[in-house]
Amino acid sequence: METKEHSMWDAATYLKFSDERSRPFADLMSQVRTAEPEWIIDLGCGTGALAKTLSERWPGARVVGVDSSKEMLSQATPLAIPGRLEYEQADIATWSTQRPLDLVVSNAALQWVNDHDGVLTRLAKMLVPGGTLAVQMPDRSHTPSQVAVEDAVADPRWSSTLQNVGLHRKSVEPLAWYVHHLHDLGFKVNAWETTYYHILTGENPVLEWLKGTALRPLLACLRGEQTEEFLRVLGSRLKDAYPAREGITVFPMPRVFFVATR
Ligand SMILES: C[S@@+](CC[C@H](N)C(=O)[O-])C[C@H]1O[C@@H](n2cnc3c(N)ncnc32)[C@H](O)[C@@H]1O
Repeated sequence: METKEHSMWDAATYLKFSDERSRPFADLMSQVRTAEPEWIIDLGCGTGALAKTLSERWPGARVVGVDSSKEMLSQATPLAIPGRLEYEQADIATWSTQRPLDLVVSNAALQWVNDHDGVLTRLAKMLVPGGTLAVQMPDRSHTPSQVAVEDAVADPRWSSTLQNVGLHRKSVEPLAWYVHHLHDLGFKVNAWETTYYHILTGENPVLEWLKGTALRPLLACLRGEQTEEFLRVLGSRLKDAYPAREGITVFPMPRVFFVATR
């Protein structure tokens, strides 16, 4: 299970790969047909840039970005436009609103939250009839990068500290689980999976990528030399798993998507 402490997020490290990461959001939103939403929520809005694109697409809507990380929100709040685009600090696991929501978007965030059954059930109740829930989550659980992380975590030097910390193989359910669950909640569901082949450069770009996301909770538990040593061990495994050729490292990243309308 992941830690619920999110002060560990680091906007600068996350933004290193912002171009690579914005395409899945665009692909998700290309399937959203909502005509004139009044209230839009972006759950796990991070540095706020994607919520801003929502307010540009629907200038008549009020958009609220929700995130638990002060650090990420400190980048978002300068983008706010009072009455049109706002940001609030809250935990998705407990967040709720009386506003009748027309569109709930969550890009690359729900994998950090436990109990997807409970979260989807609560969100369904907040959406108006005809309202839409649009979600994208990376699912690295069956990739060499997850194996490399698990192998590195198993090292006895830190295995007791890192046991049950961070994303795990159940952080994202199989896509069919979401389809069935949303169908049972009365949604019409459009779901798909895509693997993006990110073409990266640099000394150990997969390690750098993971440092901005999946490794945050693990690194938050380690100190000083142990952090360096852990990154060295993991870095070497990741280089073996994703070898560079002529300066290019290919990093396949599977992602699940669903756009569900009540
Ligand atoms: C990978 S970033 C995605 C940010 C943004 N949606 C994007 O696509 O660029 C994940 C975000 O989810 C937020 N997050 C993780 N767990 C959360 C929770 N339980 N409640 C609210 N936000 C959470 C993190 O603080 C982080 O900003």
